[in-house]
Amino acid sequence: MRITIYTLFPQLVLPYLDEALLGRAIDRGLLQVEVRDLRRFAGNRTGRVDDAPYGGGAGMVIRVDVAAAALREAVADDPPPDETVLLSPAGQPLDQRMVEHFAGLDHLVLLSGRYEGFDARAEALVTREVSIGDFVLMGGELPALTVLEAVARLLPGALGDEDSHRQDSFTTGLLDYPEYTRPPTFEGAEVPEVLRSGHHGHVERWRRREALRRTLQRHPDLLARAELDDRDRALLDELRADDDGDEDASPADDR
Ligand SMILES: C[S@@+](CC[C@H](N)C(=O)[O-])C[C@H]1O[C@@H](n2cnc3c(N)ncnc32)[C@H](O)[C@@H]1O
Repeated sequence: MRITIYTLFPQLVLPYLDEALLGRAIDRGLLQVEVRDLRRFAGNRTGRVDDAPYGGGAGMVIRVDVAAAALREAVADDPPPDETVLLSPAGQPLDQRMVEHFAGLDHLVLLSGRYEGFDARAEALVTREVSIGDFVLMGGELPALTVLEAVARLLPGALGDEDSHRQDSFTTGLLDYPEYTRPPTFEGAEVPEVLRSGHHGHVERWRRREALRRTLQRHPDLLARAELDDRDRALLDELRADDDGDEDASPADDR
């Protein structure tokens, strides 16, 4: 897969690509990432891509012709982009389903803004606008890296353990179950005994129940879309009926 990022600050993005699992995925050719400088499309010797907003007001706006020229270049790539994404706080919220969709593409183009963002006419030039959350950052570089990293970890071979993203929060339609490692007791807090029992069936059942519990408590809206079987529904009924089913109850008590 290929991901192309357009930014006014390539040096904010490039160092991130060298390290950890993302760097390894790129080194191993699972993912090709290209970072391109939007200033090349400034059309002037100063490299200035922004101008004052019509109607007045604070801040500067990135010109639509700059976005258009970058996208024209991207469309001429081989393969051409399947999606061109404008990163914007006003965009469609990024979620795991969108990430899974992006991970199935051959070529994804991400356009990072700065200042007050792009001239609104750029919105019609892309396939979609995407937001990484209801807050405003100074620029689209972190949002672009967020999309990139979320997509990269879904690519076959990108994670050390191929199974490790299958149970992730959102992938199963639920939040992930809680995980523990040594020591078994830390300042009085115990690892649930069932996880130390060596009984695979009990461990699986406990994990499913805890994933359902967490989702019910923290993100109940996910349950409407999650794939649930009869046993899950029965567990949910139990959890709903359980007045102690709040986060403070020790999961160790619940086997
Ligand atoms: C300071 S922001 C512009 C904010 C814009 N005036 C607004 O209020 O919607 C500059 C750039 O940062 C990026 N950005 C900031 N927050 C973002 C978010 N939550 N999701 C995606 N991109 C974001 C976008 O690329 C945006 O063009």
